[in-house]
Amino acid sequence: MRTPSVVPAPGLPGRVTVYEVGPRDGLQNEQALVPTEVKAEFITRLVAAGLPVVEATSFVHPKWVPQLADAGELMELLGEGGRELPVLVPNERGLDRALELGCRHIAIFGSATETFARKNLNRSLDEQFAMFEPTVARARAAGLDVRAYVSMCFGDPWEGAVPVEQVVGVGKRLFDLGASQLSLGDTIGVGTAGHVRQLVRAFVDAGMALDQLAMHFHDTYGQALANAHAALEEGITTFDSSAGGLGGCPYARSATGNLATEDLVWMLDGLGIETGVDLDQVAATSLWMAGHLGRPSPSAVVRALAGGTAQSPP
Ligand code: HMG
Ligand code: MG
Repeated sequence: MRTPSVVPAPGLPGRVTVYEVGPRDGLQNEQALVPTEVKAEFITRLVAAGLPVVEATSFVHPKWVPQLADAGELMELLGEGGRELPVLVPNERGLDRALELGCRHIAIFGSATETFARKNLNRSLDEQFAMFEPTVARARAAGLDVRAYVSMCFGDPWEGAVPVEQVVGVGKRLFDLGASQLSLGDTIGVGTAGHVRQLVRAFVDAGMALDQLAMHFHDTYGQALANAHAALEEGITTFDSSAGGLGGCPYARSATGNLATEDLVWMLDGLGIETGVDLDQVAATSLWMAGHLGRPSPSAVVRALAGGTAQSPP
């Protein structure tokens, strides 16, 4: 089968926004440098496959993430269309670079824990806000849309369990700087469904609307899709995912690939939930990118669609 049977489940949202992070979260961790032209084609193909949001790259320090050191060239190559794609920006220097290229959407990325703030941003937990505050204020004054990420929401490789109140405190503070959406990151993929429900409810209790929240699952422990379903049942309508399941964080070695876009879309298609995404086109794009990276996609759906098992009778 190339498409799932559609059997809607009661009480779920009718439409979901799939926020594609493959070109950024997916590629930032690749050892071999991917040529800028290949990244541009990857993005163009993902947009053509109907993904409504494709995060393009990061304006971070090139020594910290060498794979994305070509962010400026990439945005130039993408031209006018690229300006609507979100880019990661950690500070005012990154914002300057994004503004020079006409970017209209940025994302800041904070940490729920002290250790990861230091490792990923070279700042303490408190200092990260001092870095983000003027960045967001200037971005908003320039009319930009700002997304905020919060990492290590379900556990931290150095600190272990992360209290829900701590995650909500940091997340709210980041959002209240002036963001339009807060993406809750399971950076190392340790979350489970009950924990997801607890965290979503805690944010709602703290005054956040469900449509202001997005979920960002990594699939290290194979829980990403189950966690997405739990969040869907809680009423979340934006999910981050990466084509082919690429991904990871160079500053958290235990982070592996993101929830694969194809796995997410297969589930949503089966539930009759609209995404506007053409599954075959995304899978073809992931296979093409896997060819460039020289290794197979970790996505079960990409493998099934590619391997003949999708068409063969049982
Ligand atoms: P720093 O070394 O503390 O920077 O790094 P600084 O402010 O002290 O500045 C030092 C020098 O860097 C200066 O140059 C700056 O101009 C330059 P000098 O004056 O010495 O010549 N500089 C920059 N250059 C280019 N672009 C910039 C920039 N900023 C400073 N933006 C910094 C602090 C935040 C820059 C650094 O820690 C950094 O780049 N970190 C990024 C790490 C990263 O990208 N991690 C992956 C993304 S997060 C993630 O994947 C998680 C997520 O997916 C969600 C989840 O899964 O949980 C989002
Ligand atoms: Mg991530």
